[in-house]
Amino acid sequence: MKLENKVAIITGGARGIGRAIAEMLAGEGANPVVVDVDINEAENTAKELRSGTGRDSMAMQIDVSSAADAERMAKEVTDKYGRIDILVNNAGITRDALLVRMKEDAWDKVLAINLKGVFNCTQAAAKVMMKQHSGKIVNMASIIGIIGNVGQANYAASKGGVIALTKTSAKELSAWNINVNAIAPGFIDTKMTQALDEKQRQELLGLIPLKKLGMPQDVARLVLFLASGDSDYITGQVIRIDGGMAM
Ligand SMILES: NC(=O)c1ccc[n+]([C@@H]2O[C@H](COP(=O)([O-])OP(=O)(O)OC[C@H]3O[C@@H](n4cnc5c(N)ncnc54)[C@H](O)[C@@H]3O)[C@@H](O)[C@H]2O)c1
Repeated sequence: MKLENKVAIITGGARGIGRAIAEMLAGEGANPVVVDVDINEAENTAKELRSGTGRDSMAMQIDVSSAADAERMAKEVTDKYGRIDILVNNAGITRDALLVRMKEDAWDKVLAINLKGVFNCTQAAAKVMMKQHSGKIVNMASIIGIIGNVGQANYAASKGGVIALTKTSAKELSAWNINVNAIAPGFIDTKMTQALDEKQRQELLGLIPLKKLGMPQDVARLVLFLASGDSDYITGQVIRIDGGMAM
């Protein structure tokens, strides 16, 4: 087991990629804390993780865009387990529109959850990790944060910001033996991408050399690597997982 008894917080862990990450980490011995705005789905996921993997798993209703919620998250996890070993900043949303038509609210909401949310949770968890002199932080960026995309000015800016935040966090926290890396997935088969129509899907597949969407488990395996001792000498990196879409 690569993560025996490690305490791992996964934001947006109730479904999709986050849920696959929670399952993968629990499969390697970690106790996953499933953090999500959707408490019913988070409770469900935590329950299934407990019965499926035999690990301890708790669910927490947290809105990552709230600094107070992020502080409460770190406190409750530390009160229960005494430590935070792994933080996966995975919660994210899209509110697509062309730049000139994008409403202020769509810009603000996406930046608040996708970028400020990563800052809030990193700040809260890092204080605990610094006391431990150890920790692994994995931030979910996106290939869109590197190459941009029509209709996703807010999302692309948020994910580009996550990449810059990852590098700064890695530089600041390295003195406390905390690794911070980002993952930039291409198109992964989840609710987020199931919103695409058939035409968009076919156009997309034409851009992917491996000719298929990724699965949440593909991303989860990479998170496992970045959350484990196997990646101890890697920090501040952005690792693409996109079927070769952006080279
Ligand atoms: N699916 C893809 O193709 C793809 C590609 C690149 C990057 N990503 C990124 O991966 C991450 C997960 O995406 P997914 O496809 O699994 O999405 P999803 O919509 O299936 O799941 C996202 C989860 O985040 C939760 N969430 C939303 N707002 C929240 C908030 N304010 N606080 C806490 N939790 C919140 C949702 O309730 C949900 O459970 C996101 O950051 C997304 O941007 C996804």
